[in-house]
This record gives sequence, structure tokens and C-alpha cells, in this order.
Amino acid sequence: ETTIPGYSTSDPTSFAYPTARSRWPIIITQAIDDAYRTVGACEEGPKKEEGKKIVEELARLKYEVQHDRPLTPIRDDGYADVAIYNKELEQLGSPAWLNVPWLYTECYLFRRINTSFTLSQHWKNYDVFARQKISTFRSSRPAVLELAARYKDLVTQVRAHKESKQPADEEAERILFMEMCEICLWGNATDLSLLTNLTYEDIQKLQGSEARKAAEQNILVNDLPAAYELLLKAKKSGKKERQVDIVLDNAGFELYVDLILAGYLLSAGLATSVVLHPKSMPWFVSDVLPSDFGMLLNALAGPRHFYETPTEEDQLQDKTPKALEEKEVEDLQFLFAEWSTFHGEGQLRMRPNRFWTHPGSFWRLPYEAKDLYEDLKESELVIFKGDLNYRKLTGDAKWDSTTPFVKAIGPLGPGSGVNVMALRTCKADVVVGLKPGEDEKLRQLEGGGGDSGARKWAWSGKWAVVSFSDGA
Ligand code: F6P
Ligand code: MG
Repeated sequence: ETTIPGYSTSDPTSFAYPTARSRWPIIITQAIDDAYRTVGACEEGPKKEEGKKIVEELARLKYEVQHDRPLTPIRDDGYADVAIYNKELEQLGSPAWLNVPWLYTECYLFRRINTSFTLSQHWKNYDVFARQKISTFRSSRPAVLELAARYKDLVTQVRAHKESKQPADEEAERILFMEMCEICLWGNATDLSLLTNLTYEDIQKLQGSEARKAAEQNILVNDLPAAYELLLKAKKSGKKERQVDIVLDNAGFELYVDLILAGYLLSAGLATSVVLHPKSMPWFVSDVLPSDFGMLLNALAGPRHFYETPTEEDQLQDKTPKALEEKEVEDLQFLFAEWSTFHGEGQLRMRPNRFWTHPGSFWRLPYEAKDLYEDLKESELVIFKGDLNYRKLTGDAKWDSTTPFVKAIGPLGPGSGVNVMALRTCKADVVVGLKPGEDEKLRQLEGGGGDSGARKWAWSGKWAVVSFSDGA
């Protein structure tokens, strides 16, 4: 554990403050709406009755947050992490919602929501955020199609080049690696918990290729070259098994771009296998569950069905979705064929671990999840996606922004045996590895926070950091 204090929901200058007061109630309300809708569609019987009880429990949870009640122990639903949550709660001295460490409480919130389902008979694996995930993914259609076309071209070229037996064009490979990683990075700007203040148009703008080029200057730290060197060196060494791990963040468009990166690494021979790490319960609204992976592949396998079937909203507004062109269908099915082959042959795997939904930071990885830690040491590169993973890497602590990344990640830094790369768009306060004076400069920009003491520029997902730590 770091000795640097963490961000708290009681600090008016932290993003934790509005998060606890306005975002959390919205998130719980969305969960209530979803469960209520499903209950409404249930036949009379025990499942419906139980569903009503779940809705009531969620409403009570919302009341407790909004009225700053004390956090109550997580009820025992048979999973070992309950003890971890409750022990830490005790150590915190039974705090109330609006004066408590941000990282712990936000994890606690989703674990609490989860118990209402795990303790039921008929709703155990119900994903209360699935509807939102699917509908946002559907609305990212323009960017999905653009990327599918680009990916198909690229992979076809990479393959033709390989078959021609010409020596690898390292410069081209390097540039492509950067581009794929950048696509993957900005895919994170669009998570659903931020949707509470972004419009769909904003999101679509963020996803196109022109937007990406313009956004390059918004990457404040860019360690991609170091990560590339590492993968290239391993490839040249002739090592047979070269695994890359991706600790996933959000489902839908972000998972789609994660697969684009994974597929590229495999096709270009920069990795021989890719392991994806999803969550084990509905998490921070939009995080990937194993079922989201299946959902995505299904959408690609049957794109017409996915995109052309009118949704409930479409029906209400009497709209018919635009039909896909033949080429668009082919591009998407190409992706499906590629990724399901990789998956079928074991080169692309999902490996869940409940450690990812524990409350603490990743400083605890070597102690709380030894097996997982050993696994990750075997990997050439472990890519951590997104804001929450970055907060967990750095302990969500109030580091000075010039603190080196390798220091802020503590036990996962040099000597850990884990090569870490974070791809993160900034949606919270913590940030490290900046040049002296940079934070101050960013604060002076419009909406940057000025002299308020708040690092507002870092809250919106507009800026990003790509940080690398060599575990050797
Ligand atoms: O609610 C705030 C937050 O925890 C922020 O860290 C971030 O804005 C979001 O939720 C999760 O973002 P991501 O999906 O990138 O981890
Ligand atoms: Mg997320």
C-alpha cells in the first residue's frame, strides 16, 4: 500500500466529489430502470417476485448513497472476496458514502449491486447493464464499419507480404503498431459511466480516424516506442511462445478495438497468443464480462440481424435502421472469421479472475493473487486498458504529477518481472509521469481547473497517457 493519501469522496476538488453525488445515483437509477423493465416482461411467478425485491434493494441503495448513510457490510453470497471487502470496511471505521476513499467505495458500489443478484434464485447471472452496452455498441456503427474495412485491408497486406517472403518492413510494422495501439487507446474514451455527460454525437466524433489524428497531440506521455522495441526484440530472438495480455476495460466499441489490436499483434507475429482478462461481475457499468465477448462475435457473425433489426426505441419512433451494404457485411464477417479462428485455435483466450473485481489497488496483486501474478510474469507485455485500471495501478493516490510511472505502480514496477503498459484516457484525478510544469499549463486551459485546486482537465477523457514499465 502506498503511504500517499488517496482521493476521497469528501474532497470538493476531486472528481470523486461529483462522482459520488451525481454519477453514482444516475448509475443506480439506470440499473433500477433496467431491472424494472425486465421484471415487467416477466410472467407472474417466483422470478417476477424476486425481481421486484431486487428493484427495491437497488432503490434502497440509492437512498443510502444520496443520504450519506454508513456503508454496510457486504452480505455473504459465498464468494471469498466478501471477507476482503468487509475487512477493509472495518479498517476504514464504518464510513459513510460521502466521506470515504474513492477507489474502495466505487468498487464496493458495484459489489453491493452484485449481491442483490447473486443472492437470488432466478437472477444470479443477470447483467443489469447489458442493455446499455448493446445499444451503445450499436450506435458506434460508423466507426465500427470504418475500422473493419481498414483492418481487413491491413491484415490482407500483412499476409501477402509474409507470403512474398520479403524481409519484414520494420518501419511499416512500427507505424502500424503505433496506429493500432492508438485506436485501442481512444476506444477507451467512450465508456458508459462517462456517458452521463457525453452525447452520442460526441462519442461518434471521438471514434473516427480523423479525430484520432487530431487527438495525437493529446497524448501527454507516449511510451509506445519502448513497448514496440520489447515485442520486436522477443520476436527476433526466435522465442516460440510469446504471449501478450490485455487487462480489458469496457465492452462494446472498446472491446472491438481491443480485438483489433490483438488480431493485429497475432497477424504481424508480434505475439503468438493473446490473453484477455475480463471481469467476473457487472462492473463500472460497461466493463467486459465473458458474455460480452460472445455477444460481440455474434454481432459480427450476423451483422444484418444485429444492425437492421429495429430496437424498441426505433419502433417507438417509427424508424427503420439503415441497411448495410454488401461490402460492409463482408468486412464484418471477415473480422468474425479471423477472430473466431484465433479463438478456436487457442491463440486468443479469455481468462477471468476475481482479483480484477477486488476493492484494492494492483499494488496488492503479488499478495492477493499469486497465481495470476505468476501468469503475468510469463507475458511479454501486459496491457492495462482504461481509467480504472490506471487508478488501480497507481493506487489512486495523490502523487505529484511528475512522479515517475515506474515508481507510482509500486510492486509492479521494475524488478516485478511484469512488463506493464497502461493505455489510458484520463477520466479521474490521478496522473503521473508528466513533465514539470505540464499539469500547471493544462490547468490554465479553458475548463482545466484554473486555480480552483482541481485537476479538471484530467476528468473528461480528452487527454491520454501511455506509460510503460519494464519489469526486469
Ligand atoms: O466514475 C468514475 C470512474 O471511476 C472514472 O475512473 C472513470 O471515469 C470511469 O469511472 C471508468 O472509466 P474506465 O471505463 O475507463 O475505467
Ligand atoms: Mg470501465
